[in-house]
Amino acid sequence: MGIRPSYSVMTSCLGVCTLPCLPEMIPSQGLIRAIGGVVSGSKSFLRQRALQRLLSTSDFLTGCPCLRTKHTASEMDLSDMRKSYKADEEAFEEKHLVSLDPIKQFEDWFNQATKCPAIGEANAMCLATCSKDGRPSARMVLLKGYSDEGFRFFTNTESRKGAELACNPFASLVFYWEPLNRQVRVEGPVTQMPKEKAEGYFHSRPKSSQIGAVVSRQSTVIPSREYLRQKNAEVEEKFRDSAVPMPDYWGGYVLRPEVIEFWQGQTNRLHDRIVFRRPAEGDAVDVDGVAQRKGEGNWIFQRLSP
Ligand SMILES: Cc1cc2nc3c(=O)[nH]c(=O)nc-3n(C[C@H](O)[C@H](O)[C@H](O)COP(=O)(O)O)c2cc1C
Repeated sequence: MGIRPSYSVMTSCLGVCTLPCLPEMIPSQGLIRAIGGVVSGSKSFLRQRALQRLLSTSDFLTGCPCLRTKHTASEMDLSDMRKSYKADEEAFEEKHLVSLDPIKQFEDWFNQATKCPAIGEANAMCLATCSKDGRPSARMVLLKGYSDEGFRFFTNTESRKGAELACNPFASLVFYWEPLNRQVRVEGPVTQMPKEKAEGYFHSRPKSSQIGAVVSRQSTVIPSREYLRQKNAEVEEKFRDSAVPMPDYWGGYVLRPEVIEFWQGQTNRLHDRIVFRRPAEGDAVDVDGVAQRKGEGNWIFQRLSP
């Protein structure tokens, strides 16, 4: 059995949204340097004083969470960065589950996420894989479908994630729908889709994306962007009047969920976590109706402490 990666979202934001948030009190060059962590080394004393005043004026900074930080020359202290989530009346309780089948529950949350104008790509998810020796790696991919069978995504099978899945076929997915204060985590074994299914999806994509997939030997080192441009032009020319064959190094994967956790953030940090598990065949399961409850099918569910 391989090593199983598990993953959850912890928000991170380095001080990158500085310039648009500030009035013209400080010449931008000085500001960038200061935000970059060299306040004390700034050439202009006045500029430095002005920046310090700005950073200590909480009213001014209300609109820019990236600046609500304590700076020193060598570190960014982000301990003051926090957002309000849901109030207790909006807590996610067991009675709010639309189904005791976690795939249907996922569908409900996913549909809400797709209808939320503030969410650009509800199907963007973080995929964590693990090397044979237990080193995890994570990246965003797009969910391209889901069903009782599992969660589907497409990629280059010779990429880093492809290589890791080949030697350790377990993965973890995380969706984070920030405007809804919701996270969904999914874990389970991953299998490669039959080639015909992957081909069906491959050819449904715009031709330029198919060409891009042929051009890119994902995760390999290349000398320059120009190298990609040239290769792209060559492949475009080659398939100008014909269909682009799906490369052997491209394919689809299905993660069959064994664990699906629904998390909703609460302002008081008493977040809700309801986790569904699919016990392996033969596993003894003590469904006591309190700590461990029976879901639909062979799913059980529990509430976890936040
Ligand atoms: C929002 C978003 C969606 C992405 N979707 C995919 C995808 O569906 N498939 C894919 O191979 N890469 C996708 N990528 C690029 C991957 O994050 C990553 O750069 C690439 O797959 C190489 O990862 P690897 O070297 O770890 O294998 C996406 C990136 C972002 C930011």
